[in-house]
Amino acid sequence: MVARKSIGIGLMGLGVIGGGVAKVLMGKMDTLTREAGSKLVIKKVLEKDSAKHGSLGIEHRIFATQFEELASHPEVDIVVELIGGEHPAFEYIREALTRGKHVVTANKEVMSKHWSELLTVARDHQVALRYEASVGGGIPLIAPFQEDLVANDISAIYAIVNGTTNYILTRMAKEGLDFSVALKKAQELGYAEADPAKDIEGVDAAYKLAILTTIAFGTEVRSENVYHEGISRLQARDFRYARELGYAIKLLAIAKRSGDSIEARVHPVFIPEDSLLAKVDGVYNAIHVEGDLVGKVIFYGEGAGPRATSSAVVSDIIKIAQNINRGTTDIPRLPFASGRTVKPMAEIETRYYMRMSVADQAGVLAQISKILGDHAISISSVIQKETDPSTQIAEIVIMTHPAKEQAVQQALKKTERLAVVKEITNFVRVEA
Ligand SMILES: NC(=O)c1ccc[n+]([C@@H]2O[C@H](COP(=O)([O-])OP(=O)(O)OC[C@H]3O[C@@H](n4cnc5c(N)ncnc54)[C@H](OP(=O)(O)O)[C@@H]3O)[C@@H](O)[C@H]2O)c1
Repeated sequence: MVARKSIGIGLMGLGVIGGGVAKVLMGKMDTLTREAGSKLVIKKVLEKDSAKHGSLGIEHRIFATQFEELASHPEVDIVVELIGGEHPAFEYIREALTRGKHVVTANKEVMSKHWSELLTVARDHQVALRYEASVGGGIPLIAPFQEDLVANDISAIYAIVNGTTNYILTRMAKEGLDFSVALKKAQELGYAEADPAKDIEGVDAAYKLAILTTIAFGTEVRSENVYHEGISRLQARDFRYARELGYAIKLLAIAKRSGDSIEARVHPVFIPEDSLLAKVDGVYNAIHVEGDLVGKVIFYGEGAGPRATSSAVVSDIIKIAQNINRGTTDIPRLPFASGRTVKPMAEIETRYYMRMSVADQAGVLAQISKILGDHAISISSVIQKETDPSTQIAEIVIMTHPAKEQAVQQALKKTERLAVVKEITNFVRVEA
């Protein structure tokens, strides 16, 4: 088949990533043309911010303000969605696929909420839908899971997939900062948005874990089925105690296969300080995967930013262009055949770190141990930390052996009601 002279791109969104992608498409034209087999030409740009019209040296006349102008353009072969957010991005992607356009997106929210519908529409219309940049920015993940690791039964994923929270946790751990101070520093440096809720509450990581889990385990896991908990409860003293006990604290996205069910959860975790994930600092991402054949594999790199993310977006564009030139289409497979269900959080089993303020008097520990024992929770160690002489309140830290989440939650509620317990100040799950 003779390669086409050019392949047309409709670019939606000329923000951080869209701008980065446009720069790469224009700045690396010769290399990309060689790889794609055709010149990749931006035919239309949809951007609602008129201040960006005519920017980056893109001709003013190809800017559109209405989706219809881009979607109906006969020379747009590939629609690249980089406007972000759920709506109208979802509707635009679905409409573009319905009109027979291939789609590339970096949108984790849309993919994690509307997987099956979008993949089904793409199949029905025999077009490609690629989303490599939706998880881990520039780190190749989707393609390795779907291609290079496909012979494996994946048993577990432990991932640091949110650079903002990892940056905050790194500063809390290394400089003893409290959460609010570390968040402010991240915002000043542009690593956290003005409204950081989706990052710090674990929502962004839950979107990404839903995508990874769906691909890795062949079960559709929607983001609303991923338990998520953020990092705002952590205090500088948790990092001090963690270090004393030989752990680091990370916000992990965890997926595990156990029998007919899978665990999918995002929350702060104590991990051994000598583990590779514990050494992933700042805005970097890392994804640890365990497969029956390959063993343990770690993907590490820049999980965000225009350059790294455009690496993934432009690679997706090139793969589609190569297929157009071969006369084939990489029709998405629906990776939902295993019939596994997501285990309710109450049923997971792990170890726990508990920090509480208690009266500094004899018999306190016996009362707490009794409640934990009644819930089949066994203590692996107890450390009494500082006592405030003026209030006679002591802080104790308890580490447990593996226990059921539901039992731990019930036991903590009962413990909190003890007269000698002033407050359960924190509890963090432990993955060893
Ligand atoms: N930033 C990263 O490092 C990163 C990494 C991986 C993946 N992603 C994903 O990439 C996507 C884009 O993120 P971004 O950081 O580039 O966002 P961004 O900087 O906010 O860019 C989005 C652009 O699209 C425009 N836009 C929004 N809604 C529109 C609409 N309905 N019609 C036309 N234009 C519209 C925005 O205009 P206004 O500014 O006027 O709203 C803005 O210029 C998101 O899905 C994000 O999750 C981002």
